[in-house]
Amino acid sequence: MVVDMLQSWYAGQKLKADQMEGQPHFYQMLEATLDGRRRKKAMVSLRERPAGTVDFASNDFLGLSMDGILRERFLQELENNKGFTLGSGGSRLLDGSNPYINQLEKRIAAFHKAESALIFNSGYEANIAIFGSLPSPTDVIIYDEFIHASVHVGMKVTRAATKMSFLHNNLDDFRRVLTRVRESDPVFKLGLRTVLIAVETVYSMDGDIAPLRELSDIATEIFPRGNAIFVVDEAQATGVIGEKGAGYISATGLESKMAIRLHTYGKGLSSNGAAVLCPDTVRDYLINYAPGIIYTTSPSFPFLAAIKCAYDLLEDGSTAPLQAKIEALVRRFYSKLHALPSWPASKAAGILSVPTGEDFESQTYLSQIVPLIAPDTMSLVALMHFMDYVAWPHQYPVVPRGKQRVRLRFHAHNTEAQVDGLIEILDQWMKVQLMAVECNEPVDVEGLVTAASAGPKELQKALADILRKVEMHHTKMAMVEVNEVLVPQEPQVVMS
Ligand SMILES: Cc1ncc(COP(=O)(O)O)c(C=O)c1O
Repeated sequence: MVVDMLQSWYAGQKLKADQMEGQPHFYQMLEATLDGRRRKKAMVSLRERPAGTVDFASNDFLGLSMDGILRERFLQELENNKGFTLGSGGSRLLDGSNPYINQLEKRIAAFHKAESALIFNSGYEANIAIFGSLPSPTDVIIYDEFIHASVHVGMKVTRAATKMSFLHNNLDDFRRVLTRVRESDPVFKLGLRTVLIAVETVYSMDGDIAPLRELSDIATEIFPRGNAIFVVDEAQATGVIGEKGAGYISATGLESKMAIRLHTYGKGLSSNGAAVLCPDTVRDYLINYAPGIIYTTSPSFPFLAAIKCAYDLLEDGSTAPLQAKIEALVRRFYSKLHALPSWPASKAAGILSVPTGEDFESQTYLSQIVPLIAPDTMSLVALMHFMDYVAWPHQYPVVPRGKQRVRLRFHAHNTEAQVDGLIEILDQWMKVQLMAVECNEPVDVEGLVTAASAGPKELQKALADILRKVEMHHTKMAMVEVNEVLVPQEPQVVMS
């Protein structure tokens, strides 16, 4: 049951450092640091999503991990290559290159209309390679403030001395930062210093989409000599957005404007690894200078075969209906949410905000990621888990302070009934939250979890208690209103 997972999460928040007496100082210090997290109820432990639960959590957007179509193709691919070697045999620079990976890279490049592609073991490593090895000390990196953690790691090891962020998806701030950089040294105007611009197409925590064309136009206007180079991460869009899932850049025809692109395979394509799409020059440079290519074993045959089969599915159109289904479910979710009577009041009271749903009817592309931003994410997660719906909360430092959220991820394997069930849960939760605001009494999440782990009857009772409280509160309020009408007001005594 999902609620067991929630209970073990609660158990993991109990302080531990004071039980470490007699242990080596090193471990005591580690536990003391972990206690810092436990105190904020932010201690992370590894969990397994129980089978049979409703998945609004995984990155298996197209459901390819589940429905067997990719597995069948993969097994067939192994069969077609009976003599394959299991391990790759070494780093890409030694024994780890072979016709299979070389051909796969050519095919990936052609599919996304890029000059070349270079496969990495993960998107994380690819971003470290891009930002850690490509910029020279005089280059400047400009990045969206919500860029993925792996880019930050790359920027820690980069030689570029200057790194500046701009406000998330904010064109005015982007222009301001670029202008500031251009004015900082006349050499920029001559095109002799480079600005690398790091953005994502679909932002992983916010689910919104970058205004890429506008960003590109501004960069060209400010750096007309081509010394503004875009590095665009399509991790969340791969397989999900654009024709045949080729990504947002391909959907908007911006291939020639986005010099370096990253597609990852662990999410929509249910595999592992990533490919950097780039000009040949960049590929050659990465092969020569990126530690994440040079000093690591290159991907094994099964790893590459899974990616190859996933591209087969994209190319032959098998995934197109899955993409369409995700979008239809997201639209259904927004329209049902907006139709709930509890929604406007909750939005106005700051109980819940869902920015990606605003104007959703007029948006051409809707992403599969829907953050539910709420001050009290824990009670929402608890309620979802009670109903065997799984999604995870995210809090600072993964998201900005005060912007904690439950991140919903929609999948092709979700059903309309599951979306409707989710809406019912949200409706219940918003009503309870509105009550909590009215009564000025926070929801007792811990009590609910304890009740739930004692058994379904106890949970029902605890939920019924909350609802009874709501009713009592409303009756009390109604009586106050009635009394105000019935009881004659005292005449006001005016002191003269
Ligand atoms: C935007 C973005 N870039 C890169 C990565 C890392 O990709 P991978 O999981 O292949 O390491 C992720 C994964 O969370 C991501 O969301």
